[in-house]
Amino acid sequence: MTEWSTAQTDARRTLMQWVFGARATEVVSVATRMDLADTIGDGEADVTELARGYEIPPEQLNRLLRALASLGLCTEPRPGTFALTEAGSLLRKGHPASLHDFAGFHTAPVSLAPWSRLESNIRTGRTAFDEHFGMPIYEYLGNEPELSAVFNTAMSQETHRTAATLTEHYDFGRFTTVTDIGGGDGTLLASILKGRPGLSGVVFDTAEGAGQAAGTIKAAGLEKRCTVATGNFLEAVPAGADLYMIKSVIHNWDDDRAATILRNCRTAMSAESRLLIVDVVLPETVIPDSSELNPYLKDLQMMVLVGGKERTRADFEKLCTRAGLTLTDIVTLPSHVGLSLIEAVPS
Ligand SMILES: C[S@@+](CC[C@H](N)C(=O)[O-])C[C@H]1O[C@@H](n2cnc3c(N)ncnc32)[C@H](O)[C@@H]1O
Repeated sequence: MTEWSTAQTDARRTLMQWVFGARATEVVSVATRMDLADTIGDGEADVTELARGYEIPPEQLNRLLRALASLGLCTEPRPGTFALTEAGSLLRKGHPASLHDFAGFHTAPVSLAPWSRLESNIRTGRTAFDEHFGMPIYEYLGNEPELSAVFNTAMSQETHRTAATLTEHYDFGRFTTVTDIGGGDGTLLASILKGRPGLSGVVFDTAEGAGQAAGTIKAAGLEKRCTVATGNFLEAVPAGADLYMIKSVIHNWDDDRAATILRNCRTAMSAESRLLIVDVVLPETVIPDSSELNPYLKDLQMMVLVGGKERTRADFEKLCTRAGLTLTDIVTLPSHVGLSLIEAVPS
């Protein structure tokens, strides 16, 4: 085999996996919607039995399961018998590190359909989601309480693991009150408050966004130290915290609105308060990436779904300056997390 043919084989493999990537996503999407991982459960499951439970033909289910096995989400130890792999188990709802709703949301039409307008979005700059559904995504979610709950859980499933890493890399002990702006269902704040009895907190989000936050706080036994406030961060955020944290929010917005949100944080801050932005920080030029979600695909995802974008350090510096803040430090979290901690203070 010549060196050239090895290179060509690798080149074909690289291209082919992206040509066929959408098919794999559909397979995961259907498996998630059917709750297949929970139905398979622990141990081995026979396809005929599974098909009987779903009242569907075993042949088609067998083909879906074989495809899942080929993707590494289950194994087929004997013909027609399937068992979950560790990766497949993450699609179980009760798994402690479950990604069921995360996969469900990101492979559902609400998330994928706007990608069919990617070219138009690139050519016109108009947000594909808004063109497709006739309104921005957060307005759409506001009208769909069930989907909004899935979205909130999807966000918190992604945030669970980040929370552990974040608390290892940032000293929250020096603060007394932290407000989590766009804090969603309160997963991140609850995990920060848990080991720090001297710290209290506020989850700030829209009414729909914070719909599950009281439940998270109660389940963590934090009712005395944590409250929920609802509102619109494009208008104002609550004053009185010495740390303002804002995770995976700024990348949802274009520069003007991102600057407005940061300016509203600045207005709420005292001279001694700190702002902690947790987001992707893109390198100045593309480098091979080992995080779970390629940041450049995430960048396009922001463009397509919300009209937002991922940013470089220079972009964050400019945004902070526009908002009356000075960027003081950026700490890059371990590469599998794919996020950085960006600290800023009032200018
Ligand atoms: C991508 S999610 C991030 C949630 C959470 N910080 C996390 O990392 O898991 C963005 C959050 O911003 C909230 N949000 C969107 N528009 C808002 C607004 N105008 N005012 C307040 N919160 C808003 C959403 O409800 C959602 O919880």
